Amino acid sequence: MTDPANTTASPAPKSMDAIMALCKRRGFIFQASDIYGGINGFWDYGPLGAQLKKNLRDAWWQDMIMRPCWGANGPNGQPVRCVPLETRIIQHPKVWEASGHVAGFNDPMVDDKETKGRFRADHLIGAFCAPIDAPAPTTAGLPAFTIVSSTPGEAVTILTDDKKLRKLLGVDGLEPVAASSSGQALFKCEYKGKPVHALFAQVPMETLKAQFGNIPSPFTGKPGSLTEPRQFNLMFKTYVGATASQDDIAYLRPETAQGIFVHFKNVADTTRVKMPFGIGNVGTSFRNEVTPRNFTFRSREFEQMELEFFCHPDESQEWYKFWRDFRMEWWKRIGLAGENLILREHDKDELSHYSCGTSDVEYRFPFTAPGFGELEGIAHRGNFDLTQHQKHSGAKMEYNDTERGEILPNGGRRGERYLPHCIEPAAGLDRGVLAILCEAYTKDESRPSPEFMKFNPRVAPIKAAVFPLVGKDGMPEVADKLHAELSARFWRLGAIECDEKQTIGKRYARMDEAGCPFCFTIDGDTLKDQTVTVRDRDTGGQQRIGIDKVSAFVADKIGE
Ligand code: GAP
Repeated sequence: MTDPANTTASPAPKSMDAIMALCKRRGFIFQASDIYGGINGFWDYGPLGAQLKKNLRDAWWQDMIMRPCWGANGPNGQPVRCVPLETRIIQHPKVWEASGHVAGFNDPMVDDKETKGRFRADHLIGAFCAPIDAPAPTTAGLPAFTIVSSTPGEAVTILTDDKKLRKLLGVDGLEPVAASSSGQALFKCEYKGKPVHALFAQVPMETLKAQFGNIPSPFTGKPGSLTEPRQFNLMFKTYVGATASQDDIAYLRPETAQGIFVHFKNVADTTRVKMPFGIGNVGTSFRNEVTPRNFTFRSREFEQMELEFFCHPDESQEWYKFWRDFRMEWWKRIGLAGENLILREHDKDELSHYSCGTSDVEYRFPFTAPGFGELEGIAHRGNFDLTQHQKHSGAKMEYNDTERGEILPNGGRRGERYLPHCIEPAAGLDRGVLAILCEAYTKDESRPSPEFMKFNPRVAPIKAAVFPLVGKDGMPEVADKLHAELSARFWRLGAIECDEKQTIGKRYARMDEAGCPFCFTIDGDTLKDQTVTVRDRDTGGQQRIGIDKVSAFVADKIGE
């Protein structure tokens, strides 16, 4: 979520309920174990969703690994080099000790004993309200949760996903009148129907621990029912082997990144890659989130697409900036362009102790609007991870760079040994799909099909549809032939539909909801002059092209 100062005025958010309903109705996303009432934090992809997700994964794979950065040179003037890797969900438990996840991958959890509601203590925010004609309130000197308010004696507690108070926007869609860098934001808003100034402040953990008995539950508004916050490790545990003893405990990976660090030397030693180079890993990660929410945004099982780009420490800042900018550009090209997408550089106090730079690509989801939610983090991780694995495993992680170091009398080089620094663009695949679904969802009551999905043709799960205008006069046969031709060429990229049921208007409407960019209609003229109608999903406009040009037309539009 972003600093209020960075937040631009935005159009009314799209309805998340409408998007979720369409996702279910058209088979993009279903709740996992739906017929048993679902299981919180787990989502499955239906036929359209599975292909949409595959297309996004493939686009990442292509643009990050196989032809990195669309063939552009890096800041060193050389083509960017990356290789793939595929590592397992279950790794040796020591991997997670070395990475710090066993000791530190915790969220502070609080339960409401009355409602059985649960929340993350760091999501709790207190609001201090004052009448609008009184001086603006300040938290200085105020005990936590004392309300300076037009309705005295009532505390306000708010739950938010924001990591920081300055990321408050999105809680109630309020526009700040002032924000301070100390983590407070002043809003003009209504409290109990009266205009008030509200100063929101994140509840410090010490205050929460000391005063949890007095803090009103965000579920009931009454104090006294909250448990003391306790640390909860987000890694799912399992047992490896039949005995299921304490010695057999293993973890489901909470990120794909560590698999890359563990194999850094294996990859460097077995391939011809030379520094700088990247290793990409895509796969499922698990986090036992305290409060999974917002559709797939915060799930307990999700896929990540992570690249670790290793380079000489002296070049790391340049590479950090390069990847940060490329990743922003990539999301734009995939269809998230416009004011719903921002790149946010972390403040110094948000950085991990080992990081000297992190940026987030953030998207304005309907449920975060007018604020933003993280889609991808691009972090300069220094040599933290390789150092940790070297220390914990005893394996040497140093790289011998034969293109650097002292020049020997014979003209060769001695080589420089160092622990490379690492830039990590870490994207969420499921979050990417969700952002694409939200961005694509369009409502236009003036159209015969008011809801349609404006997918970028590259990720659209159905690439084209072929319709005989009527099911007779030889039209179905021509449609079948065109369908077979397009399917043979494009099956790797998505479906080609062929449908002769219902009116042509209804068939267009079905394809609009599925986000199919182009429909080709075979009609009476086709039989005479070998042309077809192309109907554009976004404009509804139609044109005629030769039937022999259809395949090239589709290829051009999807960037093949
Ligand atoms: N290796 C670094 C790392 O894992 P992260 O910010 O924790 O960084 C990277 O995760 C991305 O993974 C996030 O930007 C987000 O898109 C996705 N992600 C993280 N937790 C998630 C969750 N519970 N549900 C869905 N996606 C999640």
